[in-house]
Amino acid sequence: MTKKLFIKTWGCQMNVYDSARMADVLAPLGYQPVDEPDGADMVILNTCHIREKAAEKVFSELGRLRQLKDRKAEAEDGRMILAVAGCVAQAEGEEIVARAPFVDMVFGPQTYHTLPEMVAKASRAAGSVLNTDFPAESKFDFLPEEAASQGVSAFLAVQEGCDKFCTFCVVPYTRGAEFSRPADQILGEAKRLVAGGTREINLLGQNVNAWHGDGPDGSTWGLGRLIRELAEIDGLERIRYTTSHPRDMADDLIRAHAEVPQLMPYLHLPVQAGSDRILAAMNRKHTADDYRRLVDRLRTAKPDLAMSGDFIVGFPGESDADFAATLKLVTEIGYAQAYSFKYSPRPGTPASVDGAQVPEEVKESRLAALHQLLNAQQVAFNHSFVGRSVPVLFDRVGRRGGQLLGRSPWMQSVHAEANERLLGRIVEVRVDAALANSLAGTVVTGEYITASPFQPAVTLEASA
Ligand code: SAH
Ligand code: SF4
Ligand code: F3S
Repeated sequence: MTKKLFIKTWGCQMNVYDSARMADVLAPLGYQPVDEPDGADMVILNTCHIREKAAEKVFSELGRLRQLKDRKAEAEDGRMILAVAGCVAQAEGEEIVARAPFVDMVFGPQTYHTLPEMVAKASRAAGSVLNTDFPAESKFDFLPEEAASQGVSAFLAVQEGCDKFCTFCVVPYTRGAEFSRPADQILGEAKRLVAGGTREINLLGQNVNAWHGDGPDGSTWGLGRLIRELAEIDGLERIRYTTSHPRDMADDLIRAHAEVPQLMPYLHLPVQAGSDRILAAMNRKHTADDYRRLVDRLRTAKPDLAMSGDFIVGFPGESDADFAATLKLVTEIGYAQAYSFKYSPRPGTPASVDGAQVPEEVKESRLAALHQLLNAQQVAFNHSFVGRSVPVLFDRVGRRGGQLLGRSPWMQSVHAEANERLLGRIVEVRVDAALANSLAGTVVTGEYITASPFQPAVTLEASA
């Protein structure tokens, strides 16, 4: 009998990947994904603990789900197994069990391969199953092969966890120590993805550029080498990786940007702040000038490289002058796109007990100023494409009929009127307009760059 599985995902791309893996583990037990929690036999909240607001949402969502669970029981429609996974489960597992005893399973990111056992236990007994272990074995050795197609653009986790211990961050505690999957496992997964229609792979890791895996030849590979090997896979048109730390940007990886055409000219390289004093207090272990030099080297290797980043404003002790240094760095680097956050004190992290917390209204006004600057850069970047043709990999059907959505090499979201047979293909699109977060374009007729995984290669007629 098929059972309905609803997974709600918050947080980073790793969580999106993990949610897909959980669905893979549960499929042999009869669970099939559905789009809404009402009536579901299992609901999993895959949670994020990175900032306060992210964690709060979990408890309010649980309140709503409890009603659905009760309603299902009253209707004698079977039992809804309610589960909390992800980083809030890891960090606050016991608190969840205490505050929300109607939750059946609470388990951390390193335990997903044991889901069948947890489900069996939860089905047998009342009370919550709690599993926040960091098992000795790697879950990647036990997770089943991913379901046939993961879409045109897919995530592939190559690295997980973090040993850097930035003083603001929970990730080293919620995901555990840095772990790199072996190269052959990654290459095997990549080949299966491509066979299933994937044309773009985004390599994932909390510190993806720290990846160093055992190569099939017995030597240790770095990410640059892995990317070169992936580029040999026939049909894999685009490769990306995220998120990187400035300290792990190896020479060979920088060279790969110059030498591997499939490696896209877009890099998410968070710097967090522009003041050396704050960077030191954050334990980032590099200076603002180190970052400037690194970006220079990257742009020398790949002149059209679009930069993205993350910034935190209002870190404890941040003065007006420190914040001005962040604005200065942003102005100098020029970002195509970036994320900025107000510092959020996280339980258990060193910065949260720093006496020099910055008042909320100061954080607000700094965030607004930084946002304005980053937004202006993004708008200018996007506008510089109007009138140009860009190769777009169409990966989704648009919400409006007859429209496809895809991405430019620089990660811009592009939409255009296009026939569905262009899904999975890289097509030249002339950019007509730049909107706040996307580009609108027209397919340049008569030209296509790659064969579609879903359709035989054809030459386009006038009305693509
Ligand atoms: N591993 C990545 C980032 C992971 S968290 C890296 O090292 O860059 C994603 C982003 O969330 C971080 O880059 C940071 O900008 C932000 N972040 C993390 N902890 C935060 C906190 N306590 N308050 C506000 N923003 C935070
Ligand atoms: Fe968090 Fe720093 Fe590790 Fe990134 S490098 S995950 S910000 S501790
Ligand atoms: Fe959030 Fe965990 Fe990712 S805290 S950002 S889901 S690693």
